[in-house]
Amino acid sequence: MVNVLFVCLGNICRSPMAEAVLRHKVSERQLADQISVDSAGTGDWHIGNPPHEGTRRILDLHGISYENMKARLVSGDDFEKFQYIICMDKSNGDNVRKIPGGEHSELLFFMDLLPEAELREVPDPYFTGNFEQVYELIDAGCDVLLEQIIKDKLQQA
Ligand code: 4NP
Repeated sequence: MVNVLFVCLGNICRSPMAEAVLRHKVSERQLADQISVDSAGTGDWHIGNPPHEGTRRILDLHGISYENMKARLVSGDDFEKFQYIICMDKSNGDNVRKIPGGEHSELLFFMDLLPEAELREVPDPYFTGNFEQVYELIDAGCDVLLEQIIKDKLQQA
């Protein structure tokens, strides 16, 4: 199993959107038995809460499920379990590296999936209110990521 973890600050806006979008794409490709997707945050304000209304609204619009998703914190165990830990912005990466066990973790940054884009971090819609912009970035980045996982981990030599 290939395990993918998306990380943001509150785990209610960006990373749950990416979790839901990638899981949807994985299901469409019938790869759910080979790729599992999760998300977590580094701030504890929203633990146990469902995704933000703005994230839910845009997922509903695109027919993407967020059933049973609840915010949680990144934990030390995540560094053992996940081969792909993908941060939405630079400060998320700094926060992850402060978690015991995370000091030397190999982190990826979401916008590195989209090297042509001018933005180098996924803007936080909790502050910008622009969930549509985040959806566009996440949808495009998850297409790239899924192809990368298939190529790097799933295709037999
Ligand atoms: P997220 O957005 O990191 O994309 O989930 C945020 C959600 C909540 C807060 C900050 C960012 N907050 O400060 O409560």
